[in-house]
Amino acid sequence: MAIRPILMHPDPRLKKRCDPVENIDGDIRTLISDMFETMYDAPGIGLAAPQVGSLVRVIVMDCAKSENDDPEPIAMVNPQVVWESDDLNIHEEGCLSIPEEYNDVERPAQVRVAYTDTDGAAQEIACDGLLATCVQHEIDHLNGKLFIDYLGPMKRQMITGRMKKRKKERAAAKSDAPRPNRA
Ligand code: NI
Repeated sequence: MAIRPILMHPDPRLKKRCDPVENIDGDIRTLISDMFETMYDAPGIGLAAPQVGSLVRVIVMDCAKSENDDPEPIAMVNPQVVWESDDLNIHEEGCLSIPEEYNDVERPAQVRVAYTDTDGAAQEIACDGLLATCVQHEIDHLNGKLFIDYLGPMKRQMITGRMKKRKKERAAAKSDAPRPNRA
């Protein structure tokens, strides 16, 4: 298992439509376990494969209510919303690829999602509350859509401007860091 670097917005790979997974082989299983490790380390409640640079339709989530609750890891391959409620819910969202930015987003309050599990079996689950918000946010990532795409253009541009600045600062901090001696 390994923690993979998380791509930061703006990045063209976060705007791509991801490819379906044809079969769940060793590479996909490694990707899933690395994604869990990366998500828990961040920490976050959801992560989509394109956020670690893999343009395939894989997401992982853990929406356990609190740190004291047992973990509830769910990995989904080729997830698809097959039903959504008419009633909507507003939830404040954030994203590991857009750190320090949080905004209210309105989405269907309940959804049913069909997916393939890590054993290759077809599954379908009903989601509401935080899990409904999270699964829709992650599936959006697989279609190149970010939560800031639900905001007005002014707000989106402001956030993107701040993110560009943060990326520059991070890159500068990295190049200042002491390098291990190379022999
Ligand atoms: Ni996200």
